Amino acid sequence: MRVLSVIGTRPEAVKMAPVLRALAAEPGIDSRLCVTGQHRELLDDVLLFFGLAPDIDLDLMAPGQELNALFSAGLHRLDGVLAQIAPDRVIVQGDTTTAYAAALAAHHRGIPVAHVEAGLRTYAHHPWPEEANRRAIALLADLHLAPTPAAGANLAAERVRGRVFVTGNSGIDALHMVLARCDAAPDTIAGLPVDRRLILFTGHRREHFGAPFDSIWAALREIAERPDIAILCPVHPNPRIGGPIAEALGQVANIRLVPPLSLVTFVRALRRADLVLTDSGGVQEEATALGKPTLVLRDATERNEGIEAGLAKLVGSNPARIAEAAAQWLDRPPLLAPSGVYGDGQAAGRIVDALLDRAVEEFVPELRDPLP
Ligand code: UD1
Ligand code: UDP
Repeated sequence: MRVLSVIGTRPEAVKMAPVLRALAAEPGIDSRLCVTGQHRELLDDVLLFFGLAPDIDLDLMAPGQELNALFSAGLHRLDGVLAQIAPDRVIVQGDTTTAYAAALAAHHRGIPVAHVEAGLRTYAHHPWPEEANRRAIALLADLHLAPTPAAGANLAAERVRGRVFVTGNSGIDALHMVLARCDAAPDTIAGLPVDRRLILFTGHRREHFGAPFDSIWAALREIAERPDIAILCPVHPNPRIGGPIAEALGQVANIRLVPPLSLVTFVRALRRADLVLTDSGGVQEEATALGKPTLVLRDATERNEGIEAGLAKLVGSNPARIAEAAAQWLDRPPLLAPSGVYGDGQAAGRIVDALLDRAVEEFVPELRDPLP
């Protein structure tokens, strides 16, 4: 069976890396990888880390590119790739423009689509544009690899066409792989005082551009007034984030803006962190897997498992609410342990079993599940 995986952004590369490795190890599968290059530096960094060599690179990223330009270029160029490779199946991951363009291009050519990380939903309008992408892919796919039982239940309730399997999130497989390559040395971060508690912040969502990000910057400024903390902010390369954050926080004491961290350095920063503030999906999952208290800077999340496990709190973008929640968890840290609600490190194997029509032993979440 010839399988074409299509990825374009950092989180797709992280979460597909274990799947691509498992596909490569299957004698019955001819696995090809196409990267759209929706992200360039972020993607290349992860490809390098996991030793992934794309068969095709469309190099689509262009400065200031709007979603429709990216989507239409992706759809057009991917059609040529499908004609050239003639895969029996296309695999997409998540909710990005790349994933939706690849799923639609395959659908137009009658090629079956497998969707990794299917079924996450808020059913709210504002996770724009990603939730619409993920739901549209559910209409096009005939193999839905749901990361959690809740995501599987969403797909069942929507009566999607084809088969649904609960596999665990392959991002947790990737985390296990990264941890295996982190040395046992203490997680000190160059330039950060060792005697301060570390808050790790990431933010990139389009739903936050403008006023919500201004509120988040105000919250970080308020938290930064505490003398016992340092806030580390790896800044997403999207210029619509880099410019505003530098202006708002660049000169604030106790806040350190840095370029995106390599995956290993980022995971080490997560391990060292006392508190995580983020709007990222993957970071939420990794923080929960590592037992790190996390404030989710969104009004709604498609990842409720971390909240139900008591490791994450949904705090929106209101500065007072964020600062109060941060103070609460810094002053009275909850007793938290690593949680297996998002995955057990075995998702890729289950995904490959499903692709090959073998029996799938589905993922059963464990509330407490120390990492290896
Ligand atoms: C995209 C995904 C989002 C995912 C996020 C992960 C969509 C609609 N959104 O976000 O689901 O959570 O990626 O990070 O697909 N840039 C660079 N270098 C890079 C990457 C980005 O310079 O390596 C700049 C470019 O100017 C680019 C901009 O950032 O145009 C935004 O990139 P884009 O792919 O549009 O990211 P998001 O939509 O913010
Ligand atoms: N990440 C990284 N370096 C950073 C910030 C994040 O390697 O400076 C990793 C993180 O560990 C996770 C992924 O990037 O695996 C999450 O990507 P992002 O937040 O861009 O997207 P999302 O998960 O929200 O779609």
